[in-house]
Amino acid sequence: MEVIRVEGGSPISGEVGVEGAKNSALKLMAATILAPGVTTLKNVPNISDVHVMGKVLKCLGARVDVLGVHELRIDTSGVDSWETPYRLVEQMRASTAVMGPLLARFGKAVVAMPGGCNIGARKIDMHILGLEALGVKFKIDHGDIHASAPDGITGANVTLDFASVGATENLIMASVHAKGTTVIDNAAREPEIVDLANMLNEMGANIKGAGSPVIEITGVGELHPVTHTVVGDRIEAGTFLAMAGLCGEPVTVKGFEPLHLGLVLRKFEQMGITIETGFRQVTAYRNGPLKPVDIQTLPFPGFPTDMQSQTMCLLALAKGTCIVTENVFENRFMFASELQRMGSNIVIKGHHAVVHGVDGLSGAEVKSPDLRGGAALVMAGLVADGITTVSAIHHIDRGYENFVPKLQSLGAKVERVEVPDPEDPDL
Ligand code: EPZ
Repeated sequence: MEVIRVEGGSPISGEVGVEGAKNSALKLMAATILAPGVTTLKNVPNISDVHVMGKVLKCLGARVDVLGVHELRIDTSGVDSWETPYRLVEQMRASTAVMGPLLARFGKAVVAMPGGCNIGARKIDMHILGLEALGVKFKIDHGDIHASAPDGITGANVTLDFASVGATENLIMASVHAKGTTVIDNAAREPEIVDLANMLNEMGANIKGAGSPVIEITGVGELHPVTHTVVGDRIEAGTFLAMAGLCGEPVTVKGFEPLHLGLVLRKFEQMGITIETGFRQVTAYRNGPLKPVDIQTLPFPGFPTDMQSQTMCLLALAKGTCIVTENVFENRFMFASELQRMGSNIVIKGHHAVVHGVDGLSGAEVKSPDLRGGAALVMAGLVADGITTVSAIHHIDRGYENFVPKLQSLGAKVERVEVPDPEDPDL
C-alpha cells in the first residue's frame, strides 16, 4: 500500500499555486445537467472526487472529456437517466448534488441514500425537507431515495435549520425552472455557493443574494451551456499557509481569493503568524513562538471546519492552552486522536478539544482519518523529530492534487512510498 513518508526538520519556503476548489467543481459539474449541451469547466482540480463525479455524469448519459489537465468538456445533451448508482454515491457523498438538477430537468431523481463517513452521519434530511416544500415527493426504498415532482417544482420559502452547504446547493439547482420564486433563508454563504450561483446566472438563471443568508431563485426557461472557471481552493490555500506558519519560513500561496480565508488569516495572525496579502495570493511566515487562540468552527464566514485539523496542528505546538470547538460535524476530532501518537497533549470533551501546547512532536506511523486530517498529519510530520509515515492517503488524494510534489517544490523531504500492507493475508 502507498504511504506518505515525511522527514521532520526540513523547513519549507518558496511559492506554491492552488487548484480550483474541490467543493465548487463537484457542484458545477452536477449543475451542467441543467444546461443541455456542452459546458466547459476550467481550473478543475485533477483529484479523485472529480473523477468520481465524472463517472456519475457518464452514468446519467453525459459525455465527459478531459480537454487538459484542468479543463473538462461536459456534454449533457444526452443525459437520459435520473438514477445514480449506490457504488458511486458510496464513494463520494457529494454525488447527491445531482438530485436538484435531475429534479429540475426531469421532475424525478433516484439517488442512493449516502452513508455516513468518518466525520459524521452526513444526513440529508434538510435537503429532503427543503425539496418537499418545493413540491417534491420522496420515497425511501431499499437504500435509494426516490424523488419526484409530479406537478413540477413550485417556488416556496424555505428556512434551513442549519446553513447547510449541500442543502443550499440542491435547493438552488432544483429551483432554477420552478414556477414562481424560491427564497432560501439561513442559506449557506460559502464562496463555493457564490461560484455555483454565478455559473447558473451565466447560463441564464435568475439567482439573487448568493453569499448572503437569503438567496432568491426565480424560475426561468431553458438554460444554455457556458464556459466557466472554478474559483480557487481556499482550503488547499489555507492548508499550505498553515504549514508555513508551522515551519516559519515564508511561503507564498497563489491562485485564490484571500477574502475567502478572512477569519482564518486573522486567527493565524493572532497565533503569531505574519500574513501578507496580495492580489490572489498570501504570504505567511513566523518569527516568534506560536500563541494559543480559541477556535470555534461555524458556517462561512465563521471559521471553516475544513481548516480545523490543520489549525489544531498549529495549536498543538503553541505556548499555552486553548480550546477548539467543532460545531459543524459531530465527529471531526480523529486527527487530534491520531496526533497523540506524535506526542501532542489534547483532551477531547464532546465537541470541545482542550489543546495543551507541547514543545515538540515525534515522528510516528499514523493513519489519515479523513481528507483534511490526513493533510494535517503530513503537516505535523514536517516539524516532528524523525520520520512520520501517513497511511490511508487515498483520503488526501480525494482533495489535494499533487500534494507531495507541491511540498517537495517547497523543500519538504516528503515522498510517496510503497510499503507492505499489514492487512495483507500473505504477510
Ligand atoms: C460541504 O459538505 C463540504 N463538502 C465539506 O467539505 C464541508 O466540510 C461542509 O460543506 C461544511 O462547509 C463538499 O462541498 C463536497 P453541510 P456538506 O451540508 O454539504 C449536517 C471537505 O473536507 N447536515 O454544510 O455535506 C451535516 O451532517 C469536506 O472538503 C444534516 O444534518 O456539509 C453536517 O454535520 C468535508 N442534514 C452539517 O450539517 C442535512 O440535510 C454541515 O453539513 C445536511 C447537513
